[in-house]
Amino acid sequence: MNFYTLITGASTGIGKYLAEDFARMGDNLVLVARSKDKLEALAGELRRTCGVEVHVCAQDLSAVDAAAKVFEFCEQKGLVIDKLVNCAGFSVAGDFERMDEEMFVQMATVNMVAVVALIRLFLPAMRVRRRGTVVNIASLAGFQGVPGMAAYSATKAFVVNLTEALSIELQGSGVRIFAVCPGFIDNDLFYSRAGHDRSRIIVPVSSPEVVVKAVRKGLAGKALLILPTFFDRLMVFSQRFVPRKIAAGLAGVFAGAREK
Ligand SMILES: NC(=O)c1ccc[n+]([C@@H]2O[C@H](COP(=O)([O-])OP(=O)(O)OC[C@H]3O[C@@H](n4cnc5c(N)ncnc54)[C@H](OP(=O)(O)O)[C@@H]3O)[C@@H](O)[C@H]2O)c1
Repeated sequence: MNFYTLITGASTGIGKYLAEDFARMGDNLVLVARSKDKLEALAGELRRTCGVEVHVCAQDLSAVDAAAKVFEFCEQKGLVIDKLVNCAGFSVAGDFERMDEEMFVQMATVNMVAVVALIRLFLPAMRVRRRGTVVNIASLAGFQGVPGMAAYSATKAFVVNLTEALSIELQGSGVRIFAVCPGFIDNDLFYSRAGHDRSRIIVPVSSPEVVVKAVRKGLAGKALLILPTFFDRLMVFSQRFVPRKIAAGLAGVFAGAREK
């Protein structure tokens, strides 16, 4: 049986790095995002350089039926998804009350609803095969509220809790789920889309490769929530010793995402 790794958000940033890494490891791919041209270009390059099969499924995951369309695409082509990587997502920075309502709905749909919908669609067949892996790209922002990124941090807390709970529900099924929870990653597109002035971030910003390494680590081991860097681990560990209000306040200062 030919297996495929499905990666959402594969057109740019972390998802693109992940697609390149999975292809180098010999995985056949299904790439999902809105930018069909970027996905096609990446698919062509990966077919040529890695000799793997790559399918492109351009979908807007902020549409409620998009996950079902992605699933149908795979069913029609007979593509068996063995790894599902939920990477598509975006942030909106700034003061909560000024957030555009439509942006909030889109972010909630892409960061949470689509993740749930895709897992629910692809999980049953993984359970039947008694093999498969779900990888969720969450965020360090999911470990405490981040002032200036209140709704975004809440969507990532959702992904963290979802992953934790499902990992228990999946025990003994042969299917694994884990989440990678990066701190700030060097990707100007992510910050410009969020309206987040990157120069105001006062903590280390890591390269996307640290996320790729963390995903590899997750696939090779048994960890549930992977914090890619020492700084990420230090941040989460130190939260044990301070009230949550202080952790959230500090996260807001570090992120510098509040309007001046
Ligand atoms: N960058 C960071 O500092 C950071 C830190 C922690 C976690 N993360 C998480 O890592 C993931 C990837 O972020 P990134 O830094 O790689 O950002 P990015 O370069 O902006 O990539 C986001 C990806 O999601 C896709 N996407 C966005 N909206 C979509 C929609 N409506 N429908 C389908 N696809 C959509 C984008 O593709 P199209 O525009 O082509 O649709 C793109 O491929 C996100 O979940 C993010 O929350 C990022």
